[in-house]
Amino acid sequence: MRRAAFTYPQRTTPLPMNPTVSTLTLDRRDEALDLADRAFDNTPRDYFERHQSADPAWDVSQSLVVEDGGALIGHLWIADRTMRYGEARVRFGGIADVGVDPAHRGQGHAGRLLDAAVERMQADGQPLSLLSTGTPEVYAGRGWHAMPTAQLEGEFPGGDIEWAGGYVVRPFETADLPAVMGIYSDIAADRVGPLDRSEAYWQALMDWLPRVTPESTVYFDVLVQVRTVVAYAITELSDDQMTILDGGIQYENLAIPLLNVWRARAAERGVSRLTGELHPASELFDLLRKRADATLKPTRHYMVRLNSLRGALESVVPELIRRRRRMAPLPGPPFALNVAGEAARIETPMANVVIGDPVGNEPVVELTGGQFLDLYLGAPGGYEALDALDIPPHVDVYLRRLFPNSPFMYWNADRF
Ligand SMILES: CC(C)(COP(=O)(O)OP(=O)(O)OC[C@H]1O[C@@H](n2cnc3c(N)ncnc32)[C@H](O)[C@@H]1OP(=O)(O)O)[C@@H](O)C(=O)NCCC(=O)NCCS
Repeated sequence: MRRAAFTYPQRTTPLPMNPTVSTLTLDRRDEALDLADRAFDNTPRDYFERHQSADPAWDVSQSLVVEDGGALIGHLWIADRTMRYGEARVRFGGIADVGVDPAHRGQGHAGRLLDAAVERMQADGQPLSLLSTGTPEVYAGRGWHAMPTAQLEGEFPGGDIEWAGGYVVRPFETADLPAVMGIYSDIAADRVGPLDRSEAYWQALMDWLPRVTPESTVYFDVLVQVRTVVAYAITELSDDQMTILDGGIQYENLAIPLLNVWRARAAERGVSRLTGELHPASELFDLLRKRADATLKPTRHYMVRLNSLRGALESVVPELIRRRRRMAPLPGPPFALNVAGEAARIETPMANVVIGDPVGNEPVVELTGGQFLDLYLGAPGGYEALDALDIPPHVDVYLRRLFPNSPFMYWNADRF
């Protein structure tokens, strides 16, 4: 029997040194982009570059990196975005382009980046964080909570799609932007979740969207009636499906000419499946339900994190005042919310809402971060949480009036 000579195992990769998280600097940006490119199989480097640089609020210091033994092995970008919340606006950190070098996975590097990101967002006054992911497990243990949205499932109809003439569908031109922005604002006015999009952000969106999946084609169409832009839509066509990324359509009949154009385009590529994420109460969904047999199924790939209870409440005071005016004009009982260890007092004197520090022996409503986010963002889980608690009835009624159920909405066009 031959016996193998004993040799010490040869180390082919250097021992992990001391992974450190730091802020990315311009001189190492190329390295960070190369890393993102290595980490994601199907997304081109060019997309990461444009997605970040084209964003009007971008700064290289928004990226955090893990360095080990002199090399960058992990990256995360905190996009600085603002969410519409009816009349109010809430700043949030959009967690994007999270990637760890394939050779260094499973060693807690993503976790390190996320911990550092939470600290950074709290220091920077971003009371919420938002992301979209296929691997919620990575974020769930660090306080991110799935927020339900609605995914459209439909098929383009056969036969004639009847519609009144007088409308023309044509590609978007720069001069259309003010009209498009006006339509977007009208639709988002009462909703919770859509981004606050500046003119520069719109331009950035058009720059990076076509680069996400180069095999797909992104179309930005406007619907024109007597030289006036009356609707718009951003769609993405692949070999499998057409996805509505954003639909600025306020009346059902305006969707019909667009549906015709989409169908013809999809047919040329042999596609009949129609999808996207839509608000259940949108006119566009109403039309697709009738004309394209469309249904909505729940999806949970958006995740939200509460970074600061106080910040989240203070940001939305203008909208809370508006809701009071509509639904609860008389002064309500003061009470405190206690959410994952952070407390805030809500006082509702005449025509106002005041957020402050808890005092004395007023009622305290205890919620987990996820339960509060459901309530705050209008998801059904919020009322389910209240149902299970023993809250003084007058406080319970007031809480429900301040935070009505109103489906959270987010356009795929803003994804990161
Ligand atoms: C996802 C990714 C960033 C994870 O990086 P990582 O350094 O291996 O992750 P960590 O070791 O820090 O693990 C963090 C947590 O996520 C979990 N996790 C990591 N990868 C996971 C996976 N693919 N599926 C499920 N859970 C996973 C870990 O178990 C750990 O959970 P815990 O904190 O509850 O213990 C990395 O696999 C990657 O770069 N993937 C390709 C790009 C990508 O998909 N990015 C995410 C886009 S949203």
